[in-house]
Amino acid sequence: MRYVIAVFLAALTPVSAAELQPLSDTDFHYAGRPNSQQAELGRFLFYDKILSGNRNISCATCHHPAHETGDGLRVSIGEGGSGLGSLRDTGRGASAIASRVGRNAQPLFNVGAREFTALFHDGRVEVDQREPNNFLTPIGDRLPDGLDNVLAAQALFPLVSVDEMAGQTGENDVADAVSDNDVHRAWNLLERRIQSTPEYVTLMVAAYPHIEQADDIAITDIGNAIAAFTVLEWRADESRFDAFLRGDDASLTSMEKRGYELFYGASGCSECHSGSLQTDHDFHAIALPQIGPGKGHGFDGHEDFGREFVTGNPSDRYRFRTPSLRNVSHTGPWGHNGAFDTLEAAVHHHLSPVRSLNDYYLSAQIKPSRSDLDAKDYLVQGSTLRRNAIASRNELTNTKLSDVQIQELLAFLEALSDARSLSTDAGVPQQVPSGLPVSD
Ligand code: HEC
Ligand code: HEC
Repeated sequence: MRYVIAVFLAALTPVSAAELQPLSDTDFHYAGRPNSQQAELGRFLFYDKILSGNRNISCATCHHPAHETGDGLRVSIGEGGSGLGSLRDTGRGASAIASRVGRNAQPLFNVGAREFTALFHDGRVEVDQREPNNFLTPIGDRLPDGLDNVLAAQALFPLVSVDEMAGQTGENDVADAVSDNDVHRAWNLLERRIQSTPEYVTLMVAAYPHIEQADDIAITDIGNAIAAFTVLEWRADESRFDAFLRGDDASLTSMEKRGYELFYGASGCSECHSGSLQTDHDFHAIALPQIGPGKGHGFDGHEDFGREFVTGNPSDRYRFRTPSLRNVSHTGPWGHNGAFDTLEAAVHHHLSPVRSLNDYYLSAQIKPSRSDLDAKDYLVQGSTLRRNAIASRNELTNTKLSDVQIQELLAFLEALSDARSLSTDAGVPQQVPSGLPVSD
């Protein structure tokens, strides 16, 4: 079946800077409410391994400022591994990882902007007013009430993911609850860990008026505090492009301006990467090479069908959320599974996607190497039949750009970097209330 949508209808004219709005406080959650106590509490929770079943991994392991809020890996290494970023290994003995995580750790810059209403590459945690507690998630109406926003809802899911933070069945009580499909029991166990850590109780009482004693602390408070931290910590709207949007015409070089005009004009990028954050928050199939263990889809479980798995709609197969391109020069590897090592290769892919898919360098290794894991990494990409299936859903049309134009686009993308937000060590606490190690 051939399924192609032509997205470039006509020659496009550049969007003028006036049509793109600069970001302001009200574009972010908690606007006008600085929330510093909640955010500081959230900082500790984000960096504390106490929230993982085996107390060996925190959110920061995969979203670390030293790795631009990701982990620098193509696909993440969850609980069982040790070390950070490119130094992370797959672990040893019985506790070694069973599988890599199927996708690339998303950067967290500006995810606190209200316009992000669907999180993850496939948008599976999503604001939906028709749902009893306002969010559509993989666990339906079992989500607890009282979550501040979609980031707070999202934060509850890595905690109950076997490969990310919970651990394998038999290893700890949280993992056992997850394997019984009892997420509430798993969250209760994590609540109890926080309730029995005196410093957390003090911080929770100070941050939330409804908390008077340890017993009052709920998983929703944990999610809300992590959300407050994420919103404030990784706001990134002080790039030179932001200065340009605020009216400072001199903040972009003439090369970057040409890149800007191409991006929002003739090259068609803004058909999907629209608006000030360069995303329509919609889902598109762009024939990205499929590498890594996959997401459990397809006959052998090694496919990643993307949005289809959320909507159940076959026309959503291989569609992934258009990523924001803020700080994108720094957030590699790129693509939902980190298939591309350079930003240039990721941009080139868009110009001739099917050729790029078929020419993809199969020996590009997923690190760290482990022979049994490596054996699964190219099962989809290595099959002509399966590559053809990916190609048949491609929505991009081929675009011709000169080398100079590509350099101009790349220069514009670099101008989306906010140096302050990219600071590599700021904000990492020296220690966390559980006393567990922070720095590995
Ligand atoms: C094992 C690595 C790992 C850990 C630990 C982890 N994450 Fe992630 N995170 C990922 C990956 C991989 C994705 C993309 C997953 C997907 O699309 O299926 C992601 C996605 C996200 C997103 C969505 C961003 C977006 O643009 O939609 C947020 C927010 C996030 N993580 C926050 C957290 C928080 C908070 C924690 C701790 C409670 C955490 N993560 C723990 C790897 C990790
Ligand atoms: C049809 C919609 C569409 C158009 C047009 C489009 N993109 Fe994309 N882009 C996407 C989607 C969807 C992804 C993520 C795909 C995935 O991970 O499977 C993406 C990924 C990217 C990435 C990797 C980002 C990351 O964080 O991994 C870059 C860079 C990028 N696009 C730049 C561009 C540029 C430059 C143009 C114009 C030449 C462009 N895109 C045109 C939809 C589009």
